[in-house]
Amino acid sequence: MFPSVDGRLAILAVLPTSLFFITSLKRFIRNRQNKFPPGPVPLPLLGNILSLDTKAAWLTYTEWAAAYGDLFFVRLLGQEVVVINSQHVAEALLDKRSRIYSDRPYLATVEPFGWSVVFAFVGYGDEWRLSRRLFHQTFRSDSALKFRPMQIKQAREMIVNLIDDPQNYHSHFATFSSSVAMSATYGYQTSPRNDPLVRNVENALAIGLEVVTPEKAILLKTFPFLLKLPDWCWGSSIKRNARTSSDRMREMTDVPFQYAQDHMVENSAIGQFSMVAENLQRIEKQDQTSRSLFEGALKKAATTAIIGSYETTTSTLMTFALAMVLYPDVQRRAQAEIDSVVGRDRLPTFEDRTSLPYIESVLRETLRWQPIVPLGIAHVTTSDDTYDGYFIPKGTTVMCNAWGITRDEKRYPDASRFVPERFLDVNGALTDDNPAKYVFGFGRRACPGRHAADASLWSAIVTMLATVEFSSAKDDQGKVIEFTPQFTTGLNQYLLFSYHSIFLSLTISSL
Ligand code: HEM
Repeated sequence: MFPSVDGRLAILAVLPTSLFFITSLKRFIRNRQNKFPPGPVPLPLLGNILSLDTKAAWLTYTEWAAAYGDLFFVRLLGQEVVVINSQHVAEALLDKRSRIYSDRPYLATVEPFGWSVVFAFVGYGDEWRLSRRLFHQTFRSDSALKFRPMQIKQAREMIVNLIDDPQNYHSHFATFSSSVAMSATYGYQTSPRNDPLVRNVENALAIGLEVVTPEKAILLKTFPFLLKLPDWCWGSSIKRNARTSSDRMREMTDVPFQYAQDHMVENSAIGQFSMVAENLQRIEKQDQTSRSLFEGALKKAATTAIIGSYETTTSTLMTFALAMVLYPDVQRRAQAEIDSVVGRDRLPTFEDRTSLPYIESVLRETLRWQPIVPLGIAHVTTSDDTYDGYFIPKGTTVMCNAWGITRDEKRYPDASRFVPERFLDVNGALTDDNPAKYVFGFGRRACPGRHAADASLWSAIVTMLATVEFSSAKDDQGKVIEFTPQFTTGLNQYLLFSYHSIFLSLTISSL
């Protein structure tokens, strides 16, 4: 006997309600049995989403940390989220228990938009492991040393651009960032302006950034049929965007990879290292099947290196420029240190680094003052856990509020001011406190590009301080043009990824 049509409709209507009821009941029982970390009281269904500044969630989280402590619990729509607000707790959970804190949230947009080539968004498993291992072999601290001469060279080229065309400093910072990444990854030398491969990256990012917005991901997760609508149908724009995005990602991935393959022999003859060439040489003797598997993982590692470095390095240099304009005494002290250690007849090199503690403190303070990834990238737990008596269920999204750590007044008095001296002791030597220990994330997912990023930032900052001066822009009468720095709080926020960059008005003149 089959149920009648009416009966089947009734079953269809009752099923979701019962499922929702059973899930809520299970959650209710679990919540009664376990003690969750403290946090603001959630509304039914919506949770705490209405109280959150979704454009700059780290600000709300930092306020909540003052009320609920270093580890608190919130609900955002249906998602359970734990927010960590101290380096100590981040190390205890994300570093020491990384086996269960290293997954990423599922985003329904990643695959259709062609972003599964970015391993930063890939879940914790073998696929991620292979790409990350290849990346690590090239970018770990001792291997990344070989990029230093190239980083210094690119920093000096950036100065030529800055002096030639000081108005477009943002574009020169971006060119520097991408030229370092393209060279380290593919052995490709970018042209100072309008480089076709850099344009491919910009094109891919312009549309692909939709991928990481939780709103789009939730829409596609709820209505997956949107990807099946015919092109003429209302509502099919997401499908068309996904197709364009996938094409652009493919172009961004394949063209430079092919370049690296074609120029492998000549580049290694002139001592030009790159992640792709090194790894391709390593697998030359393997059979076809292992090679294809390996090449797929290598492409992912390479594309992720480009995407991972593009905006981050540029935004950090923008932050540095802003600090130099707002804090001219810091700029003067840094320049005086370079003058006394390096002199004026040559430019600084990495050999000078340990003799320049004030420059080091300026770099640390730049990372701390405006952390450009204030909430890191979300992790997800793969099993239940208990910390400090609090229950953290499997599937919880875990955010580390780096912004909150930088605003801890006990550790950083007058935290909103740019004060490099906070990283120096009374003898002018560097202290043990280094924001690089938390702004690059934690555990097995911590930024694997951090050593390359650190060296790029140092070479750019020290070379700029040795050659140019940042000051406020002036009008025709020579009066300072007042400006309010505007931070774009790009891709928010509470579920996956965030960044923080600035636009400012300044003058750059050569020394
Ligand atoms: C100032 C510069 C940078 C900052 C502040 C930064 C910060 C971060 C943060 C916070 C994460 C997430 C860590 C976590 O999940 O706990 C991350 C991931 C990542 N970063 Fe960076 N990053 C920077 C530069 C770079 C550069 C230059 C590269 C490439 C050479 C890079 C490659 C990556 C990759 C591949 C991941 C994903 C790791 C994974 O999911 O396993 N980053 N970065």
